[in-house]
Amino acid sequence: YLNYHVPRTRREILEVLIKGLHRLEYRGYDSAGVGIDGGNAKEWETNSKNIHLIKQTGKVKALDEEIHRQQDVDLDVEFDVHLGIAHTRWATHGVPSPVNSHPQRSDKNNEFIVIHNGIITNYKDLKKFLESKGYEFESETDTETIAKLVKYMYDNRESDAITFATLVEQVTQQLEGAFALVFKSVHYPGEAVGSRRGGPLLIGVRSDHKLSTDHIPILYRSCDAVIEHTNRVIFLEDDDIAAVRDGRLSIHRIKRTAGDHPARAIQTLQMELQQIMKGNFSSFMQKEIFEQPESVVNTMRGRVNFENNTVILGGLKDHIKEIQRCRRLIMIACGTSYHAGVATRQVLEELTELPVMVELASDFLDRNTPVFRDDVCFFISQSGETADSLLALRYCKERGALTVGITNTVGSSISRETDCGVHINAGPEIGVASTKAYTSQFVALIMFALLMCDDRISVQPRRREIIQGLKVLPDLIKEVLSLDEEIQKLAAELYQQKSVLIMGRGYHYATCLEGALKIKEITYMHSEGILAGELKHGPLALVDKLMPCQNALQQVVARQGRPIVICDKEDYETIKNSSRTIKVPHSVDCLQGILSVIPLQLLSFHLAVLRGYDVDCPRNLAKSVTVE
Ligand code: F6R
Repeated sequence: YLNYHVPRTRREILEVLIKGLHRLEYRGYDSAGVGIDGGNAKEWETNSKNIHLIKQTGKVKALDEEIHRQQDVDLDVEFDVHLGIAHTRWATHGVPSPVNSHPQRSDKNNEFIVIHNGIITNYKDLKKFLESKGYEFESETDTETIAKLVKYMYDNRESDAITFATLVEQVTQQLEGAFALVFKSVHYPGEAVGSRRGGPLLIGVRSDHKLSTDHIPILYRSCDAVIEHTNRVIFLEDDDIAAVRDGRLSIHRIKRTAGDHPARAIQTLQMELQQIMKGNFSSFMQKEIFEQPESVVNTMRGRVNFENNTVILGGLKDHIKEIQRCRRLIMIACGTSYHAGVATRQVLEELTELPVMVELASDFLDRNTPVFRDDVCFFISQSGETADSLLALRYCKERGALTVGITNTVGSSISRETDCGVHINAGPEIGVASTKAYTSQFVALIMFALLMCDDRISVQPRRREIIQGLKVLPDLIKEVLSLDEEIQKLAAELYQQKSVLIMGRGYHYATCLEGALKIKEITYMHSEGILAGELKHGPLALVDKLMPCQNALQQVVARQGRPIVICDKEDYETIKNSSRTIKVPHSVDCLQGILSVIPLQLLSFHLAVLRGYDVDCPRNLAKSVTVE
């Protein structure tokens, strides 16, 4: 956070930083820290140019309490230039602890401090080098090497006139891996420098015409933290070095090549603050489950014409012919986004008549999967920043395949690095457990399948059936959501169980995988999604009279299992033969999975609440997994 020329107290500066951290907390939350100017304003002008670091393990609230416990931090001191950097950490190197939290520092005097998102893969070599020069390390993080390296560069500078940006450029050139960095230093008071390669970083630009400076830039890592200050942002590109000084922003590139210009457009975010607030719901996850009637409409808005049964996807229009000629489609993703690929594979195969592979990004890379120039590779990702998916994207690009992004985050790495794509427009998803993004990814992939066959006469009746199914989908989702109370009662019966098996086949297999993932991640109960056809080949041994199951009826009943059946309300045969049913409205076969997954989203939510867990912040998980 950086602001100029309006006197503010340290308390106000810290409030802005802490609020920003709260907005980001859902992305990773094992510890947090801030770095602000020390001393008081007058001393700062003269000799006491120091930096104060406050760090704490746990939630941002714990950091806030720690700040107020600090005796030597005078919160009422006023500053003309307000510059602080702050960070929430999700541990990758070293346990969550104050010393491992960011900002990391160059030395005991905090001459340089840095915050970092990502991983430095060559940090061991850099650390060895710095240790040989007498630097002593205090943390287990890769980030600390960056703080020490910048001091090393400064101490060994060739000229006293070296700028902060040049220094950061020199440091960045030595780093390998993926990162977004922001630096602050006692040697360059009132100045912040950021750089990125593979990690997201943006600058918020706030105009205030009452002031002599008309652009007041603020550096941020994500739109969520910036939106309450400004909706005008500049997305930095890989190898940009951005320096903010005296209210002015300058950007230069590490590798200057012809046509590689540092001018960056200011973009306006279409995001409202209330969109990232909880409203009347007890958690973001609950809010997002209930938003699905609107979020699927937003995914289809301006794209599906229900009158003349056409689909337009602007982001694919220049590439659709090439996609239609391809050898195969490969869907690559992680977790819930992978399940969206599993859910739509059958209809994609049917409507495109192409082989469709659905791949977990990490496994796809581990196998060095063969990829060819005439393959089309889809990267499905809510955040657009998932490291495994991003690495798989680069792998496919290197092999010449056409790459398509299906993301929810405009300006994310995946949406920028793919050749073309579809934004699912589900709105910000903040609960760690993905819900509305899944149903919107599902709808986006169905729209793609429809687009692929829009000129094939033989499939027109099927296309019309699906498009008309999409038209009524939002109302059917509302009907499913009205089952909430019934599902809450079911959760009250089940929440002390150890394990839930979820069985289904065909279009419903993805629902089983996704339902089981939701239950695992937020309730910590064991849960497995099982392909019903596989039941007799092994998993049936798990069934006894204590085991709640969904579906795969007879075999389960015969073993005294207690199936709870989620079924189409028009499936009278199943309803007649089941003692416990959750009846969802009927839809077109390939869309039914959107309706059947919602009861499981609701069930996992209620189970987690009854078991006393924090639904939005499941242990050990982060919203954007930016590490391999
Ligand atoms: C589960 C969940 C994760 C993500 C996965 C991929 O509820 O949210 O499994 O789906 O980490 O994330 P994105 O879609 O951001 O690439």
